[in-house]
Amino acid sequence: MSRPKILVTRSIPDEAKAVLTPHFEIDQYDKHTAIPRPLLLKKIKDKDGLLCILTEKIDEELLHAAPRLKAVATYSVGFDHIDVKACGARKVAVTNTPGVLTETTADFTWALLLACARRVPEGDKFMRAGSYKAWDPMMLLGTDVHGKTLGIVGFGRIGQAVARRAAGFGMKIVYFDTQRIFPEVEKQFDVQFRELNDLLREADFVTLHCVLDAATHHLIDEKAFALMKRTAYLVNAARGPIVDEKALVKALKTGRIRAAALDVYELEPKTAPGLLSLPNIVLAPHLASASLETRTKMGVMAAQGLVDVLALKKMPAHPVNAEVCQSVLAAA
Ligand code: GLV
Repeated sequence: MSRPKILVTRSIPDEAKAVLTPHFEIDQYDKHTAIPRPLLLKKIKDKDGLLCILTEKIDEELLHAAPRLKAVATYSVGFDHIDVKACGARKVAVTNTPGVLTETTADFTWALLLACARRVPEGDKFMRAGSYKAWDPMMLLGTDVHGKTLGIVGFGRIGQAVARRAAGFGMKIVYFDTQRIFPEVEKQFDVQFRELNDLLREADFVTLHCVLDAATHHLIDEKAFALMKRTAYLVNAARGPIVDEKALVKALKTGRIRAAALDVYELEPKTAPGLLSLPNIVLAPHLASASLETRTKMGVMAAQGLVDVLALKKMPAHPVNAEVCQSVLAAA
């Protein structure tokens, strides 16, 4: 019997490839850049499965071009690049990689927050430029992190992991989520619920950990910046479009807030005009889950999602659309 055909849209770790190899005929775009859209649409035509990256839009157009497609495994926890409803309508199972990147992403959120508050990239640049001539009491002054108020927007797995780390800095933690957690859990994390506007008014550091959907698109816009303290810092390691990037540039330019640190961008990999020349921003190229250990685990998990649905014909461990997965398996 012929093996299912799959498309892998990027170079992936050997460990992940090893999960796929025994089960599939693999067509791989084995590069470190995004597969051109026309090539993706051409290659997907005869495929049963797709292992994709968050740079690929899995939309009506792609699904239409892929009449045999039964499963999409994304090498990411976020799936805002996938039209899950359209996948459901066409009976395409979707899986993702939750859990394995929680702690790594929380670590990186703190790397961004600390780098920004204590001006680490500026210090690094200063040293390399040979500008350090003498210790000076007023040189490159940042702001204290310990003892301040941290505002966490989105209190899911990653938001909670960020909160656990904040305890070590003796911070007061306030959070906003559309669903308030149980009082016992609030106690356990030592966090207090705030409505979003109250959180924005109160926090010294605002860090975003909500999903991107219609409700959170531009959640942090000009009005939100107007509520924040002039001394506040914004950290975004979630998804770019949660922040109105043009409004952010304005807020940083005019001193509406003090500084920001971004790992994600509204039109990634592009940045809003003026963003790159701002002195009060720390920038990273979407690195929050980028540790060797975690990216390997994510690759293996994504690969296993395809193997479960298409080869072992069993429920994957991390379905995005469980009911559709079930019906794909029932029809197999
Ligand atoms: C990364 O941004 C992910 O969603 O895994």
